[in-house]
Amino acid sequence: MIDVAVFASGTGSNLVNLVQNEELKNYINIKLLVCDNPKAKVIERAKELGVETLVFNPKEYSKKIDFEKMLLEQVKDFKYLLLAGYMRVISTYFLENYEGKIINIHPSLLPLYKGINSIERAYNNKDEEIGVTIHFVNEEVDGGEILAQDKFTVDYNKSLEDITQQVHKLEHRLYPNTLIELLRKEN
Ligand code: GRF
Repeated sequence: MIDVAVFASGTGSNLVNLVQNEELKNYINIKLLVCDNPKAKVIERAKELGVETLVFNPKEYSKKIDFEKMLLEQVKDFKYLLLAGYMRVISTYFLENYEGKIINIHPSLLPLYKGINSIERAYNNKDEEIGVTIHFVNEEVDGGEILAQDKFTVDYNKSLEDITQQVHKLEHRLYPNTLIELLRKEN
């Protein structure tokens, strides 16, 4: 069984979904939540699920490298780090120590709409299709090798909120399935 840590900053629907996926349980054990926002909802959700939490406040560190060194020490035994709404750019220093082992989910069809508010930007541009990407993390924000993508045709009679829900539904299917496929190849 592979121990992994999930990094998140927000509400944590992806964390819950990954922890509760029965098939994924055959491959990984989500042992730790790393969260950079002491007020984030994801912390409560992790606790309810019995996942250990490591919560830190970046403002309490003078430099990014200081908290990254602390994090690296804490996660050094995990084979994979899964980002799920972690709102911080991972530095080159951190990446050097975790090459090819950090995976992210992004709510757009990368390379389109890197950065924040991706769903809103795609919706406002009236894109015909909106989707989700799972990718390895490299030094470029929302860059890195793409592992999987999925998408749907947008019905513009639906509100941005409805479309956002639809994207989350897709995320909750694509993230575990992509991980299962990746881990199966490793076994
Ligand atoms: C998701 O849309 C994910 O793609 C993005 O951040 C959001 C996190 O949502 N990177 P949640 O906290 O898992 O509900």
